[in-house]
Amino acid sequence: MAYKDVYAGWQQDPEAFWMDAAQSIDWVKPPSKALFDDKAPIYEWFSDAQVNTCWNAVDRHVEAGRGEQIAIIHDSPVTQTKRWISYVELRNRVASLAGALRAKGVEKGDRVIIYMPMIPQALEAMLACSRIGAVHSVVFGGFAAHELAVRIDDCKPKCIIAASCGIEPGRVVHYKPLLDGALELSTHQPDFCVIFQREQEVAHLEEGRDFNWHGFQYGVEPADCVPVDGNHPAYILYTSGTTGQPKGVIRHTAGQLVALNWTMKNVYNVDPGDVFWAASDVGWVVGHSYICYAPLIHGNTTIVFEGKPVGTPDAGTFWRVISEHKVKSFFTAPTAFRAVKREDPKGELIGKYDLSCLKQVYLAGERADPDTITWAQTQLKVPVIDHWWQTETGWAIAANPLGIEELPVKLGSPSVPMPGYDVQILDEGGHPVKPGELGAIAIKLPLPPGTLPTLWQAEDRYIKSYLTNFPGYYETGDAGIMDEDGYLYIMARTDDVINVAGHRLSTGGMEEVLASHPDVAECAVIGVTDDLKGQLPLGFLCLNAGTDRPHEDIIKECVQLVRDQIGPVAAFKLAVVVDRLPKTRSGKILRGTMVSIADGKEFKMPATIDDPAILDEIKLALQSIGYAKA
Ligand code: COA
Ligand code: AMP
Repeated sequence: MAYKDVYAGWQQDPEAFWMDAAQSIDWVKPPSKALFDDKAPIYEWFSDAQVNTCWNAVDRHVEAGRGEQIAIIHDSPVTQTKRWISYVELRNRVASLAGALRAKGVEKGDRVIIYMPMIPQALEAMLACSRIGAVHSVVFGGFAAHELAVRIDDCKPKCIIAASCGIEPGRVVHYKPLLDGALELSTHQPDFCVIFQREQEVAHLEEGRDFNWHGFQYGVEPADCVPVDGNHPAYILYTSGTTGQPKGVIRHTAGQLVALNWTMKNVYNVDPGDVFWAASDVGWVVGHSYICYAPLIHGNTTIVFEGKPVGTPDAGTFWRVISEHKVKSFFTAPTAFRAVKREDPKGELIGKYDLSCLKQVYLAGERADPDTITWAQTQLKVPVIDHWWQTETGWAIAANPLGIEELPVKLGSPSVPMPGYDVQILDEGGHPVKPGELGAIAIKLPLPPGTLPTLWQAEDRYIKSYLTNFPGYYETGDAGIMDEDGYLYIMARTDDVINVAGHRLSTGGMEEVLASHPDVAECAVIGVTDDLKGQLPLGFLCLNAGTDRPHEDIIKECVQLVRDQIGPVAAFKLAVVVDRLPKTRSGKILRGTMVSIADGKEFKMPATIDDPAILDEIKLALQSIGYAKA
């Protein structure tokens, strides 16, 4: 069937489309219908079903006689180790961990924070939670103690599962001291913590509160899968919003199972048994959907890669992993390819490996620039597919669905909407614009299964952030164009979110941190264009009158403050001191104009600017650090 027929089939009868997709899931009690719209604009899917995620991701494959198939390959160039875990072994490990959690009082609905690097135990912890109906919230290792504390206070976990350390090239990330620091900052305290001790660093355990991963499972009865309602939250994943308070995106159990399973064949073109690799991190949505859940639900082999595209040990690592483990579909961020291309522009390392197993490559997380796609396509000689989605949606809004049909690629476009998504480009008044015209990208409600039904204990914020500007639609926060053929082009964010190396960050959150510096009177953070990471944050600092300390010292302290409060992942290293910030007459900071100046782009003088002379001062300050070149 052609893509347009599949999409039209969904449009004609969404209910039948999703009920049909639901047949691939093992239900304890099947859903009586797909959509539950009685609380619109809050929509739910398959709410009256009973189901268990871990059963579908693990046990059912063992029951079906595929227990010896490899479920997880851990490939860790940073520790020089590799490990293979079969489905039956995974089932036993997860059942034991789940049993131990339950023995310590973790029940259906309790929250568990997981703070771990790219090791199989991170997936086992996620699956153990889903086995007993606990709601996990994975926190990315590149966040600092303060960010972890904010999440602890928001989701109030009964238990925190962490590793003793992570390994970044050139340094050990001390997870346990970071966790201890977070618990000193947070008001909420978990009943207990479980620490997986790695060889590279054995952490100190707090008597009575911290338990050793292995020790606490000893002699405990393994847990069976506990059925949960279709609308039971499978997890909470925090993502950047417009302030320092992250948004707790939740995912319902049944919708996630149905939608993710559907994507594995239709979007990623793999069959059960094939090896699928998403080179991301469990702390991001790509890690949730495509390192852990989707490949396992679909019966694939997933790779947990603990390394970087370059430097672990070289720019050939991706090709080594693909060739060695026979990866069929590979998913990464454009930044990763830009990093590889910078070190190996002619693809000489690619030639060292047999990549005949590789059939397709997928890029997401940030805009995929045509140069990078063309380079990858020329080097790898397989389709390189840009696809667009967000933490909120959990799976692709737009893609080139290779498992249905390979559509013509248009460089710069993540192709066309997937079934389930009625994507519209709207003007400021909420009216659809003509093809080729720029507008806010919105999705007509309801969103499909597997997307966010609301935010964790913040329904008002959900409605205000996503459903209010354009009634009847979900507002993506992205601006773009749809052409005559229905291809989308994602052009910019409409809010202050920036994308640094495929990581989504809030400039508002960074401004809150900078404003807390005692010498800073006012500040603004913008995202400037960066050849490698797509964007980099850059701060403008206006100091308090009478501050006579050297500016370099204040800048250094501000850089350290963001690293300590948000984390190294913010990659905040650029800041300048200025006397004033450019503003409109009503006092709104002209961040967009500052971005154009920094990037050396032409811009139109804003009609509402209060004092145009400030722009010259901004330009000079930016030139002093190598930006704002003509
Ligand atoms: N735990 C702790 N620290 C982490 C971390 C983690 N899991 N991940 C990143 N960091 C740290 C890095 O060590 C770095 O610290 P530093 O300032 O001390 O050097 C900082 O956060 C910034 O990291 P990053 O933006 O990743 O930059 P980098 O220079 O280390 O690496 C790339 C550059 C391009 C190789 C890297 O960004 C990359 O692999 N990108 C792909 C992104 C990706 O997969 N995104 C997922 C979305 S799909
Ligand atoms: P995250 O929630 O971290 O996955 O970030 C989602 C945001 O990243 C989107 O709203 C976009 O701004 C951006 N993004 C993700 N994928 C793409 C893509 N393929 N093209 C352009 N932007 C993208």
